Amino acid sequence: MQSEEIRSRFLKFFEKKGHAIVPSSSLVPQNDPSVLFTTAGMQQFKPYYTAPENAIKDFGNKNIVTVQKCVRTGDIDEVGDETHLTFFEMLGNFSFGGYWKKEAIEYAHEFITKELGLSIDYVSVFKDEVSGIPADEESRAIWAGIDPNLVIKEHNRQDNFWGPTGDEGPCGPTTEIYVNGVEIWNIVFNEYYKTREGKYEPLAVKGIDTGMGLERLAVQVQKKNDVYETDLFEPIISLIKQKREQIPAVSILKGDPKNDSREERINRIFTDHLKTSTFLISDGVLPSNKDKGYILRRLMRRTMGETLLAPFHKEAFQKIEKIYKKTNYKINLQIVIEVYEKELENFKSNLERGLKEINKNINAGGIVTGQEAFNYFSTYGIPKEMFLDSISHLIYSKDENFEQDYEFSYKRHQELSRTSSAGMFKGGLANHNEKTIKHHTAHHLLLAALQEVLGKSVKQKGSNITEERLRMDFSFERKMTDEEKKKVEEIVNNYISQNLSVIRKEMPLAEAEKIGAEMEFGAKYPDIVSVYLIEDKQGNPISKEFCGGPHVENTGILGKFKILKEEAVSAGVRRIKAVLE
Ligand code: SER
Repeated sequence: MQSEEIRSRFLKFFEKKGHAIVPSSSLVPQNDPSVLFTTAGMQQFKPYYTAPENAIKDFGNKNIVTVQKCVRTGDIDEVGDETHLTFFEMLGNFSFGGYWKKEAIEYAHEFITKELGLSIDYVSVFKDEVSGIPADEESRAIWAGIDPNLVIKEHNRQDNFWGPTGDEGPCGPTTEIYVNGVEIWNIVFNEYYKTREGKYEPLAVKGIDTGMGLERLAVQVQKKNDVYETDLFEPIISLIKQKREQIPAVSILKGDPKNDSREERINRIFTDHLKTSTFLISDGVLPSNKDKGYILRRLMRRTMGETLLAPFHKEAFQKIEKIYKKTNYKINLQIVIEVYEKELENFKSNLERGLKEINKNINAGGIVTGQEAFNYFSTYGIPKEMFLDSISHLIYSKDENFEQDYEFSYKRHQELSRTSSAGMFKGGLANHNEKTIKHHTAHHLLLAALQEVLGKSVKQKGSNITEERLRMDFSFERKMTDEEKKKVEEIVNNYISQNLSVIRKEMPLAEAEKIGAEMEFGAKYPDIVSVYLIEDKQGNPISKEFCGGPHVENTGILGKFKILKEEAVSAGVRRIKAVLE
């Protein structure tokens, strides 16, 4: 059975059961700033769980059925295995006060076993733990009533409680259906509304939200081993495989041709990423350095090292368009190709500049750190493998924490890019260029020097760091005297000349607070934080700050620190602009 038939059977099945068919919404959620993309079928229906009467007004029905395009990027690093995808379609039926557990479970059972002829391995129901939300005995009894021999497992909150998407919204316990050991259908009983404060308040009208991934279901229906063998992927991955086999094995990105599993993984990643890019661009997302645009840029750039060598992207996009021809999803092939090729041009020139920089900066016999490697990725888009390959003619050693550091910098960067505003990295860094990074370390030394000269009560209130200069806002009541400014400069330059190491440590938030690390007032920090420490040669702390980096490793390379300006920003807040010469 082709995937198109699975879609239409699903819609018709629920239409017959009294549901209205509603088209997929865009991947860019309307009126919900708490999420970047549409990640579930229920996304477009979120408001109806609290105002069910509007469903009748809008759709003429309390019960809805959809096939929804979704993008999830939380598991982006898992892509390449048998099941994880960034783009997928979700088959879902929804009810806003129309029916409840019995019907939802009976419909799902009938669709899976009668309509598709699959057999259910087992199902799971919610078991109460410490949450105060009771175990779902009702669902257990309904399943047992349908099939007394069915295996019913109990899963805890992590597996069998869903939602909300974003900071607040409808959520509730779930029951899940497993076929051949794989979870294929998630049935959510939306009984609660989680408030921003984290309270679970009972909803006035109970709602149903179900989600079944089309790709995983197609694996079962089409009796395949993984999603890439189904008709939703096979034509794309075959093409990519064939094209990549023509790239000479010596190319810097291509893996060991004998290592089939690595090659296969790369083929899968490219297939997934090109498909997701197609749909994101068609829904109006453009590559940029923040939010949705950043995710799109990452997805596209990951494929570009090789599309430069064997331009397979155009044909891949054509295959993708063909696979989805019968759906009503918007695919604007020409724009997709144009956007990709423009980004490819950018990538190419960055790459050339970056490779030149690497040749200039990395010396034979040196030690290469993960953060350094990552900086080439964040500045020039050079992937880790390509970075290492490009220095493989040199004798060098990888720092012992290379992989962890790279990973940390990567995650941190991702997080910052997501939350950043107007193209600025959070923490005030405009980019991760070498000069900006130097200014960043000088910024830490400046805060330490200000505290030495003006007193410990000086706190950082804001920062903005570019290649041209650093800027710090700090709490202080009056204009600084010329003498004070001179003293601050001297202290910073003295630290610079001492060649002090800049050390990053990860620690629990509480510990970082205990050692008195500087934090920015009002900023939110995760449970495990990164702290940058600069100590004098005797081991006395000069600077300790909560900070995601990046920084130089040694103050010795900073150059001469100079204050350009000291001025008022608002009552009790001053601003310093300074440079490294
Ligand atoms: N919202 C649930 C999910 O995404 C069911 O649709 O799994």
